Amino acid sequence: MSIVKLVNVTKRFGGITALRGISLSIEDGEYVCILGPTGAGKTTLLRIIAGLVEPDEGEIYIEGRRVNGVPPERRNAVYMFQNFALFPHMTVWENVSFGPMVKEWSSEKIENVTSETLEMVRLGERRDAYPSELSGGMQQRVALARGIAAGARILLLDEPFGALDARLRVNLRTQLRSLVKDQGLTAIHVTHDQEEALMVADRIVILREGRIEQTGLPQDIYNHPKSIFVMSFVGGANFLDGVVSRVTGSGSTIEIRGGLRIRVSDTSNGAGERVVVGVRREDVSLGKSRKRGFNNLVGEVLDVMFVGGSIEYVVRLENDMTMLSRILLGEGSMAFKEGDMVIVSFHPSECHVFQYPERGLLKEIEAI
Ligand SMILES: Nc1ncnc2c1ncn2[C@@H]1O[C@H](COP(=O)(O)OP(=O)(O)O)[C@@H](O)[C@H]1O
Ligand SMILES: [Mg+2]
Repeated sequence: MSIVKLVNVTKRFGGITALRGISLSIEDGEYVCILGPTGAGKTTLLRIIAGLVEPDEGEIYIEGRRVNGVPPERRNAVYMFQNFALFPHMTVWENVSFGPMVKEWSSEKIENVTSETLEMVRLGERRDAYPSELSGGMQQRVALARGIAAGARILLLDEPFGALDARLRVNLRTQLRSLVKDQGLTAIHVTHDQEEALMVADRIVILREGRIEQTGLPQDIYNHPKSIFVMSFVGGANFLDGVVSRVTGSGSTIEIRGGLRIRVSDTSNGAGERVVVGVRREDVSLGKSRKRGFNNLVGEVLDVMFVGGSIEYVVRLENDMTMLSRILLGEGSMAFKEGDMVIVSFHPSECHVFQYPERGLLKEIEAI
C-alpha cells in the first residue's frame, strides 16, 4: 500500500497555478526526491502533504486515509522538517522530548523514547547542549530526532541542506539517507540540486511548472530523459538542433547548422522533421584521429577547465557551434590545450533525439 498518495492535485494562488493535476504514489520506506527548478511547485507539494496548504482540487491519502481538511497536527505520521527549526531556549533533550511531552506520555516512556532517538542520531552525549552550541549538521540531526520522537514515519524535507556548505552537505546527505533507511522511515526530499537527488533518491520525481515531467529511478532519469528539459536539468548535455534528412532501418541522419551531418541510432522522427540531438558531455571524446562507427566532427579547443576528477573542454566546431566534452582524468586520456585542432567523436547510440520544442530550444534549457 502507498503510504502517501496524491490524486489529481491542483493548487492555485490567485492567478498562479502552482500545481496542475499531480498524481503520485509513494511507497512505505521509499526515499523520494522531488527535483525541479525554483518556482516549480516543490514547496507547495510538500505543504499540501503536511496539511499546511489545502489543494483546490484533488485528494490526499496518508496511510490509506483521506486527509483533505485534516489539520497538520492530526497528520501524525508526517513531519515537515525545515531549516532546523529548533527551540533556541531549550536543550537538545528538551527539544527532542517536546513531542512526547505534548502527548502526555508517562515520564518513563518520554525518557526512553527521547534517549533512544538521540542515540539513533548519535547525539546522546550532547543532550544538555543548546542548539547554538552545536554545528549545523548536529542541529539538523536534533531536528530530525525531534520529528521521529514525536512519532513521524514520513519525513518531509524541504531543501534540508540549503544553508550548509558544500562538503558538509555531501556528508549529511548520506547520513540522512542511512538514518531513514535504517529506521524504515519514508522520506520526501525536495531539492533543486540534481546531484543531490541522483545521489540519495530511490526514485526521482521531476517537477516543472507544477507538472510531473518524469519520474523514475535515478539511472533511468539519467539514461533515458524524456525531454530536453530533463536531460538538461539532470546531468546537462550538448544540444544540437537540426532536421532529419534520411531515415534507414539502422538509424537516421540529421543535418545541423552549416550542413554538418550527424548519425543517430534513433528512428522515431521522419525525414524533414525538426529535431534536437542531445549528447552528454561525458559521451563526447576528443582525439587526433577519427573513430570508426562514430560521428567525427572537426573543432578547435577554446577552453580547458578542471572539474573534480575530470577535464571539461569547450570546442568550437567548423559550423561555429560549441560542444562540451568531459573526460575523466586518467592515464589513458590525452591532454589538449587551447588552440589545438581536434576530432570530436560521439557514438550514434549516445545521441538522444527530441522533437524540436514548440517554445524553442532556449526555453527548455534556460533553467540551468
Ligand atoms: N502563498 C503563496 N501565495 C502566492 N503565490 C505562491 C504562494 N506559494 C507559492 N506561490 C507561487 O507558486 C509557485 C510555486 O512555488 P513553490 O511551491 O514555492 O515552488 P518551489 O518550492 O519549487 O520553488 C511560484 O510561482 C510561487 O511564486
Ligand atoms: Mg521551495
